[in-house]
Amino acid sequence: MASRSCALLLVLAMATTWLAADAGAGAGPVFNVTDFGAVADGKTDSSRAFLRAWMRACATPGRPAVVVPRGGSYLLHPLVLRGPCRGYMEVRVAGVLRAPPGLGAFRGCREWVHFSGVDGLLVTGGGTFDGRGATAWPLNECPKKRDCKLLPTSIKLGRVTNATITGVTSLDSKFFHVTVAGSHGVRIHGVTIRAPRDSPNTDGVHIQGSSDVRVTDCAVATGDDCVSVGPGASDVVVSGVTCGPGHGISVGSLGRYPGEEDVRRLRVVNCTIAGTSNGVRIKTWRGGSRPTSVSGLVFEDIVMRKVRNPIIIDQEYCPYASCRESEQRPSAVRISDVKFRNIRGVSATQVAVKLSCSEASPCRGLELRDIDLRYFKRGVSTQSQCAHVAGGVVGGTLVPPSCI
Ligand SMILES: *[C@@H]1O[C@H](CO)[C@@H](O)[C@H](O)[C@H]1NC(C)=O
Ligand SMILES: *[C@@H]1O[C@H](CO)[C@@H](O)[C@H](O)[C@H]1NC(C)=O
Ligand SMILES: *[C@@H]1O[C@H](CO)[C@@H](O)[C@H](O)[C@H]1NC(C)=O
Repeated sequence: MASRSCALLLVLAMATTWLAADAGAGAGPVFNVTDFGAVADGKTDSSRAFLRAWMRACATPGRPAVVVPRGGSYLLHPLVLRGPCRGYMEVRVAGVLRAPPGLGAFRGCREWVHFSGVDGLLVTGGGTFDGRGATAWPLNECPKKRDCKLLPTSIKLGRVTNATITGVTSLDSKFFHVTVAGSHGVRIHGVTIRAPRDSPNTDGVHIQGSSDVRVTDCAVATGDDCVSVGPGASDVVVSGVTCGPGHGISVGSLGRYPGEEDVRRLRVVNCTIAGTSNGVRIKTWRGGSRPTSVSGLVFEDIVMRKVRNPIIIDQEYCPYASCRESEQRPSAVRISDVKFRNIRGVSATQVAVKLSCSEASPCRGLELRDIDLRYFKRGVSTQSQCAHVAGGVVGGTLVPPSCI
């Protein structure tokens, strides 16, 4: 696999000088990357120093901290920070981590900073992960081309358990900002994510194949989905998140690849979505071989400010100019038990509620309750559109009137 060759290989001679870990401000010993040779000039590749600091910390029981001091910027080539570790790992980034420009340094790496196989991780410190995406966005062919090469994600948690990312900023990722995959017990709290509205595929937080994930009190401004929930995600909570610009909070895309796992139990609550193309969305590709299912979703207490499609289920998804023949068939993804409650605010289009389900597997068990979505121009009312909705329940205020 390409991802293997991507890991920076480092053979540590264990007999080399032992760098004493100082007691730091945190609970445990500190492994300061500058003591391992990191240079805060933003130009010298400091990835070896980071790896050495990580490996020393990882071998230390208790609560070791890898520290990136404030006041400097550190160029980091793609890096895999592997566990298992002996203790609970803290990575305290107070300074700025800079990705290499373009894609040259990535050679098959799908991630920039990749935490892999770690149980017990805290990433914090007030610093910034600067993905320098502007140098790579023109090389991204995915918005136009189906079999495109995916660009690197800035921060990945892969097979990580009991992890928290809090109090850091992710800036201008080349592709996704944060990906959570194959992980359990993840908290993303108080993280700021920022990229321009026209930057391609810069999803804020992407979650797949993971359970017990909470994204809380984050501000996400990007060119793509604010939070995207993909195949195999279950027990996910998104709360207190502000989104915009971007594409809103999205379940999907689903049904594109064979063998996708179901999406179960997602709660999106107390969020503000402003100036985005979608508010809350479920999107599934046309066609698709295996009937995966999406169920147990609640979208509640959400404010929309000038959102183009505030509530949308789109099972007709195929973004390319010419879709394949298999993509002419209706989606095989089954959507059931999805509640939209107390969703208020302003729609930038007249169709504020669009429930476009699959002819092959109509949506079941939808609920619309206390929906109040007004068109941004006064005096013009909003509408809802339904296709292939096999019943559901409605209640409370319903503006636009329900089509269920
Ligand atoms: C890390 O090292 C730098 C440079 O020596 C120093 O300025 C900083 O205070 C250290 N930080 C911690 C937390 O030890
Ligand atoms: C997660 O890590 C913290 C810090 O070490 C620990 O107190 C807690 O018990 C762990 N939780 C789980 C579920 O492992
Ligand atoms: C809702 O989210 C905002 C931040 O967006 C937070 O300040 C507030 O406390 C949250 N309210 C509840 C009831 O969780």
